[in-house]
Amino acid sequence: MLCAPPQTLRPTTRRPLPPRCSGASAPSPSPSSGASGGIRRLVLNPEGRAKLDARPDRDFYAFPRLVKHVDDGFLAALTDLYRERLRPDTDVLDLMSSWVSHLPPELSFRRVVGHGLNAQELAKNPRLDYFFVSDLNRDQRLELESGSFDAVLCTVSVQYLQSPEKVFAEIYRVLKPGGVCIVSFSNRMFYEKAIGAWREGSAYSRVQLVTQYFQCVEGFTQPEVVRRLPSDAGGKADSSPLAALMRLFGQASSDPFYAVISYRNLKPM
Ligand SMILES: C[S@@+](CC[C@H](N)C(=O)[O-])C[C@H]1O[C@@H](n2cnc3c(N)ncnc32)[C@H](O)[C@@H]1O
Repeated sequence: MLCAPPQTLRPTTRRPLPPRCSGASAPSPSPSSGASGGIRRLVLNPEGRAKLDARPDRDFYAFPRLVKHVDDGFLAALTDLYRERLRPDTDVLDLMSSWVSHLPPELSFRRVVGHGLNAQELAKNPRLDYFFVSDLNRDQRLELESGSFDAVLCTVSVQYLQSPEKVFAEIYRVLKPGGVCIVSFSNRMFYEKAIGAWREGSAYSRVQLVTQYFQCVEGFTQPEVVRRLPSDAGGKADSSPLAALMRLFGQASSDPFYAVISYRNLKPM
């Protein structure tokens, strides 16, 4: 469903997303092989998809949470990665977004579309030109035109998807050929709302899981993995007195950073 934000929170330039134009096909509900964008196989079994809190996600996200879900070190690593991979004047979809943007402030885009479950959070996000609300655990279709985005981003949220195969097939569909999808995550989560395969997993298995989400859709490039662990500082442990002092007072960055990156069809040179 397309939603406009409450008037009081709505910036003057912000518009609800116009309806999808035409021709967008929903992903196959069952595994299919061969066709670009088709689902080759299912990654999760029923236990892997299950959440401890089975109530509708819309209820859980009914109230805005104007908090940051990961620490500044994580967010700095993410913005740096976006700086590296995103191009100016392109179309960006921020899937499962909220009130903060992690896009580099100095980069301007042609269009940034946000998606999430709480309209009030999305209305506060200063980088969004449009946004829409939809529950991806009820309906995985994105009301967006095929081949219309250069980048799809999903930050610290992939662990809540119960049908990731269909969502990743939709990401593939809305990306332009050569478009990039960047899925980032840490070790934090709303435990009751994370799927079983994530809750029960390790850092290694979660990276593998997201890698498989890409691999199960025909046509995504071989996923790349980026890791920045708290001890990393340009690849080396930061042993400076300042870093030691910050660690002592709990100020050091402690959220590990993982991103899995893949492109539709090909990685542009
Ligand atoms: C931990 S927050 C992360 C928000 C944002 N990406 C960020 O970096 O701050 C998880 C987000 O996932 C979204 N989400 C959770 N379950 C969802 C669902 N079933 N369908 C759509 N979005 C969902 C919520 O809107 C929520 O804002």
